[in-house]
Amino acid sequence: MLPPHVEDDHFARTPLIARPLPLPRRAAARLHPLPLLVAAAAFATYYHLLVAPAPSYYHSLFLSLGSNETAAAHLRALTARPHLAGTEANALAADHVVSTLSSLCSFPTRVTPYSVLLSYPAHRSLSLSAPGRAATAFALVQDAYAGDPYAAASAEAVPTFLAYAASGSAAAEAVYANYGRAEDYAYLASRGVNVTGKVAVARYGEVFRGDKVKNARVAGAAAALIYTDFKDYTAPGKAFPDGPWMPPTGVQVGSAFKGVGDPTTPMWASSEGCERVSIAEAMATDDMPGIPALPVELLDTLLNVIAVIEGKEEPDRYVILGNHRDAWTFGAADPSSGTAALLELAQRFSKLQSKGWRPRRTIILCNWDAEEYGLIGSTEWVEENRAILTSRTVAYLNVDIGVCNSGLDVLATPQLDELLKQASKQVQNPDNGTESLYDMWMASDSSLIGRLGSGGSDHFAFVQHIGIPSVSMSVGSDYAVYHSLYDDFTWMEKYGDPMFRRHVAVASMWGLLALRLSDDEILPFNYGSYVAELEKGAVGINKSVLGMPVSLSPLQKSIKEFDKAVLKVDSELKALQTWNVWSPWRNNPLRVRDLNDRLMMTERAFTEREGQSGRPWRKHMIYGPSLHNDYGAEVYPGVDDAIQTAKRTNTSLSWQSVQHEIHRIARVISQAALVLSGGLT
Ligand SMILES: *[C@@H]1O[C@H](CO)[C@@H](O)[C@H](O)[C@H]1NC(C)=O
Ligand SMILES: *[C@@H]1O[C@H](CO)[C@@H](O)[C@H](O)[C@H]1NC(C)=O
Ligand SMILES: *[C@@H]1O[C@H](CO)[C@@H](O)[C@H](O)[C@H]1NC(C)=O
Repeated sequence: MLPPHVEDDHFARTPLIARPLPLPRRAAARLHPLPLLVAAAAFATYYHLLVAPAPSYYHSLFLSLGSNETAAAHLRALTARPHLAGTEANALAADHVVSTLSSLCSFPTRVTPYSVLLSYPAHRSLSLSAPGRAATAFALVQDAYAGDPYAAASAEAVPTFLAYAASGSAAAEAVYANYGRAEDYAYLASRGVNVTGKVAVARYGEVFRGDKVKNARVAGAAAALIYTDFKDYTAPGKAFPDGPWMPPTGVQVGSAFKGVGDPTTPMWASSEGCERVSIAEAMATDDMPGIPALPVELLDTLLNVIAVIEGKEEPDRYVILGNHRDAWTFGAADPSSGTAALLELAQRFSKLQSKGWRPRRTIILCNWDAEEYGLIGSTEWVEENRAILTSRTVAYLNVDIGVCNSGLDVLATPQLDELLKQASKQVQNPDNGTESLYDMWMASDSSLIGRLGSGGSDHFAFVQHIGIPSVSMSVGSDYAVYHSLYDDFTWMEKYGDPMFRRHVAVASMWGLLALRLSDDEILPFNYGSYVAELEKGAVGINKSVLGMPVSLSPLQKSIKEFDKAVLKVDSELKALQTWNVWSPWRNNPLRVRDLNDRLMMTERAFTEREGQSGRPWRKHMIYGPSLHNDYGAEVYPGVDDAIQTAKRTNTSLSWQSVQHEIHRIARVISQAALVLSGGLT
C-alpha cells in the first residue's frame, strides 16, 4: 500500500500526440521592451495575457505527463483484497485514496461518512431435486484456480448473493423464464405457464438483474434465481486464467435494488441523526426485490473521499469528477481501474500546480462508496448538498469501470458531445500509436454517444435528481468476468490492459475534459446537438402515436423556441470572441459570467419539481430509465411510459395522459429556451 513512486520530469514517457507548447515566458520578455512607459494597470493586463502560460500550455503538459507505471501501481494497491462497501478492506482502500490525494501539492481532502442500509448474506443454500433422484446441493462457491496469487485473499470475498433480496426460503417447482424480462413472463402466461408460487430461473443479460427479480415477484414467483449462461459468457479453452472469459464456477454478484441511495432515507441524505424510515418499511417498497435470496440487513458506514482544488477566478463554480471505490470482489476493472485513473490524473494535476497552474473554476475529485448496492455514496452526497450543487455545478464527469477492453464507450448529456470529440482528438489511441482516440472511436461500433437516462452508475443523481450536464465513459464496455471473483489484477494485466496504456488514455480524456471545463473562459457547451436529440425523440413519438388522438404541436413549438435560443447564444459568442481579438482588455467578466450561467443552468431547466410520474426523485424529463429495465435509457421517458400503457389499454383517458406527458416535456423545453436565451416572456 505504499504510494507509488512518481518521477518528477518524464515528459513523453508514454508517446502522446500532444506535446507541451514552448513556455511563452521568454518570448514574452523579448516582446516587451518598453514597460517603463506603460501604466501599472495596463501592465498587469499585458502581464496576464502574455507572460502567464495560457491554459492550453498546461493542458498539453497534462497529456504529456501520463504514466502507465503509476496507474498500474495504484491498481495493484487498490485490488490487493476484495473491498466490498462497509468492510475493513474498503476502509483501507479509502486510506490509499486519501493518503495519495493529500500527499499532493494542494488538494485539501476529506472523508464524508454516511450510515446506510447495506445487506450481506448470512446463510445460503440451494438444492435441486427431481422425482426418483437424490437432491443435488449446489456449492455456491467461486473456486480459486491453480497458481492464483490471490487465492488466500479470495477467502475474504463476500459469498455469492443478491443484495437486498428478502430473507426467507422457498421449495417449489422451477420455471425457466429466459432473460426474466416482462415480455418473457408475458410469453409464459400466453403459453398457460403459471409462475405463482414457483421458483423463477432466469439467465443474466438484456435487462438489469433488479428487473429480473421484480418481474419474477410480479408474476407471483416465491423466489428467483439468476444464473450465468455459459453460452453468453465463455468460450471453450478461453476461460480465465487461460483467456478473458468467465470460468465455470464464476458468478455475477450484484444488487437487486431498483431504487438508488440509502433505502432508509429515500428523498434525503443519511446524515448523522437524520430522520429514517424503519428497515421493515424500507425493505417493503416496490423497488425492493421482495422475494428471497438470503441476506441479512445491517446499518453500516460508508466513506466517500472528497478532494478540492480551488479555482482562482471562479471558485464558486464546480467541475466534479467522480468514481466509486467499493467492489463486489477485487474489482480490478469494476471499479478500481477508474480509481487508479483518478489517482494518476490527480498526480498529473499536482505537477501542473507545481508549474504554476491554478484552474479558473474549482475542481472536485470524488471517490464514492457503496455504488454497487444502489449508487448510495453519490446519491447521499448529492441529496445532502442538493441546493448548492444545483446553483454552482458546471458539469459532472463519471468514470466507473475505467478499462475492461479496447474501444471507447461514452454516455453524455448532448451539450458535451462537441467537447468530447475535441478532447478525444488530443489523446492517443492506446492501442495504436499512429492515430488518436477519436479516430479509433469513430471507426468503432460505439461511435454514437449514448445518453444518461439509465441508472448504471454514479452520474445518476447528478443527471436525474438535479440536472447537471454529465459524462460517463470507459475504455471498453463488456467483459465476461464482471462482478465475479475473477475480476482481479491478474485478469487486468493479462487481458484487460496488458500495458496499462488504456488506463492512461482514460485518465487523459477525463482530465482533459476537466481542464477544459474548468479553464475555458466560456464554457465549452454546445446545445446544437441537444436540438437534434429533442427532434429525434419527437420523430420517435410521432411514429408511435400515428393515427391516435394526440397532438405533437406543443412539443414541436417548444423545440423551435429552443433552437432559436441556441442560435442567439451562437451569435453572442461570436460577438464576444470578435471583441476579444482586437482588444487588449479581456471580455467584460460580468457578460461572460452571465453567458456561462445560462449555459450551465439550461440543463437544470429540463428537470421538474414533481419528477417523472410515480418516480418523484427522478426529475429529468428528457432522459430517464425505461420502466422495465434500469440499464436502458429512454428519451422522453414519461411520454414513452404513457404510450406503452395507452397501447395496452387503448382508452381515451390513457391517450389523454399521453397528451398530458407531451405538454409536460414541452413546458420544460420552453423553460430551457428561456434560460439559454436569457429572456423573460
Ligand atoms: C395461478 O396459480 C394460482 C395459485 O395456484 C392461482 O390462484 C391463479 O388463479 C393461477 N393463475 C392463472 C392465470 O391461472
Ligand atoms: C493504426 O492506425 C493507422 C491509421 O488509422 C492504420 O492505418 C493502421 O492500420 C493501424 N494499425 C493497426 C495495427 O491497427
Ligand atoms: C508501460 O508502457 C511501456 C511501453 O510504453 C512498457 O514497456 C511497460 O511495460 C508498461 N508498464 C506496465 C506496468 O505495463
